[in-house]
Amino acid sequence: MLKKSVYVWESPIRIYHWVNVILITVLVATGLFIGDPIFTRPGEAYAVFIMGKVRLWHSMAAWLFIANFIYRLYWAFVGNEHAQFKPWRKGFVSDGIESVKYYLFLTKEHTLHLGHNVVAQLAYFTVMWIGSLFMILSGLALQGEIFPGGLQARIAGWMIPLFGGGSYALRSYHHLTTWIFIAFVVVHLYLVIRQDILDDDATVSSIINGHKFAMVDGEDNHDKH
Ligand code: HEM
Ligand code: HEM
Repeated sequence: MLKKSVYVWESPIRIYHWVNVILITVLVATGLFIGDPIFTRPGEAYAVFIMGKVRLWHSMAAWLFIANFIYRLYWAFVGNEHAQFKPWRKGFVSDGIESVKYYLFLTKEHTLHLGHNVVAQLAYFTVMWIGSLFMILSGLALQGEIFPGGLQARIAGWMIPLFGGGSYALRSYHHLTTWIFIAFVVVHLYLVIRQDILDDDATVSSIINGHKFAMVDGEDNHDKH
């Protein structure tokens, strides 16, 4: 068995990933501060205005996050096979079972498919796609309270009555989902580093340079990409 280098993550996916990492870091930090302002500075509010600035950063990062999300969505249609999510494809369930066994240390290597495995795809889909969409809609609805009758309120104002209890309930879910994002990142880092070590397939560096290693029979035919 030889290893072949294969181009898996196209540059738009890698750019989306790292822009997302920066934006989520800013959103989590500013969001948690909005929810629980752990420090203040003495002085007149007009001169200090920490909370105002933090809310502005949250809001600026939020607009970029929405743009990046739409960019990734677009790439799911025009990108290569690894940029797509197709649960209806043949073998999805059996690949999923194989991946679970791999994560439970019941099988050794699992780089059957070079892109995301099925478990990773499901996690990305639930947390990053549904989760991001929820953060966007709930965030827009909360912004809609700051600008009643504005664009945000017209797009997502319906989220507030949907969750009941005034905007308090929706704000709490926006907060709770933040912790789901944080948990995702911890597990994500464990899984990608674990895969890199166990499969020795360059998973970690693949999200920087796009290339992963696949096992092939026969001669070493290094990919030209
Ligand atoms: C990963 C994405 C995001 C994270 C982790 C995040 C996190 C948070 C957190 C923790 C809070 C504080 C909630 C509380 O009161 O306890 C918050 C507030 C808020 N977020 Fe987000 N957020 C994200 C995305 C967004 C987006 C996309 C928007 C808007 C489009 C947005 C708009 C808001 C607004 C308006 C508030 C309330 C600010 C205030 O009360 O002054 N957020 N966010
Ligand atoms: C806020 C932090 C992070 C978030 C939210 C995040 C999220 C994601 C998402 C959604 C994907 C799938 C990309 C797609 O198909 O669109 C992904 C892939 C990947 N990420 Fe991250 N990531 C984070 C941080 C990191 C860091 C710090 C590393 C470096 C070790 C990393 C390494 C990777 C790798 C190697 C992949 C490809 C994994 C595979 O083979 O399936 N991520 N990440």
